[in-house]
Amino acid sequence: MKCAVCRGPAVIDLRRHNANFCADHFLKFCRDQVVRAIDEYDMIEPGERVLVAVSGGKDSLALWDLLLELGYEVEGMTIGLGIGDYSTASTEAAIAFAARRNLTLGRIDLRGDYDYDIPTAAAVTRRVPCSSCGLSKRHLIDRAALDGDYDVVATGHNLDDEAAVLFGNVLHWHTEYLGRQRPVLAERIGPEHDTRSGGAEAGTRVFPRKVKPLVRLTERETAAYCVLRGIDYVVEECPMAEGNRHLRYKEALNAVEAASPGAKQAFYFGFLARAADRFAPEPDGGDGEVRSCARCGSPTTGEVCAFCRLIDQVTGHDPVPVELVRPRRRGSRRRRARTKRPSGQSATGAQNSTGFAT
Ligand code: AMP
Ligand code: FES
Ligand code: ZN
Ligand code: ZN
Repeated sequence: MKCAVCRGPAVIDLRRHNANFCADHFLKFCRDQVVRAIDEYDMIEPGERVLVAVSGGKDSLALWDLLLELGYEVEGMTIGLGIGDYSTASTEAAIAFAARRNLTLGRIDLRGDYDYDIPTAAAVTRRVPCSSCGLSKRHLIDRAALDGDYDVVATGHNLDDEAAVLFGNVLHWHTEYLGRQRPVLAERIGPEHDTRSGGAEAGTRVFPRKVKPLVRLTERETAAYCVLRGIDYVVEECPMAEGNRHLRYKEALNAVEAASPGAKQAFYFGFLARAADRFAPEPDGGDGEVRSCARCGSPTTGEVCAFCRLIDQVTGHDPVPVELVRPRRRGSRRRRARTKRPSGQSATGAQNSTGFAT
């Protein structure tokens, strides 16, 4: 097996590109793919300050490393989700990466800072863990970017993630999500006339721009990138996501990809090039009037935002251990942790079908 560029010994074969690469040329390939994604979708302008959301897994650590290699000014933030050993190891990996390179890493701990964690939230709301997890991550990452005055937030979503979310949204014809599934979400400026206390001043940013510079790389490639760059990442996947729909869609797409290399890429980039515009939201947003949450000032279409409603519902409960809410393997009987749910409170707001941040 020879490198397609230098004919030296190759360390990886990329069937979808019909090419093998040595370590140096594979690392260059990864950088080139990120440059291409950033340019193609106008993700980041030179000189902008970037906040990367770091989970401690291969994608977000590879992303942080790649953006630094490409010369961007990037700081990190990580959220301790309280998912047992998995979260402890994830946070430690993020801290170790930042410490070794002397980088700035902001930290939020759901239990310490907000008095809940994801297993407890899942048990109390009686919804899949990814629902409260995705909502918490979106809210806290956006907040950190606005408070820290970063120009843009970067997340480690890769081609496998985006193709799987697209697959799920097509399977269920979630046209409202299809219109928003892009590698860049534009920033949003607050309503002109919202004068409520705690709210954003008229004309200020209420949502930061969010970008996914790894959309041209698969998870196999980001893992290989980390190994070759000596980046220690948490290999274990989230135990609460085990067997969820998102993972099943990934498996289905991997089966197609194995038979037709390049199919996954064609599916996702074909959608962006030829179909995404057809599902674009109405120019006025079509999401109802956005105003400031009466509690925290974040943008919302209701009186109080979904995150504050989640907080109301899930704080003040004894922590529920992850083992009690962890999904069982397919085919086994369902089991739910029993925790008392305060009366008169409904479940949290609407989510993407997978519960994953998009
Ligand atoms: P996931 O939703 O777990 O697929 O993660 C998608 C992206 O969200 C990751 O690549 C990270 O950029 C970000 N992310 C996930 N978990 C965390 C976390 N605990 N703290 C900060 N960012 C996260
Ligand atoms: Fe969110 Fe697993 S990381 S539920
Ligand atoms: Zn080479
Ligand atoms: Zn709020």
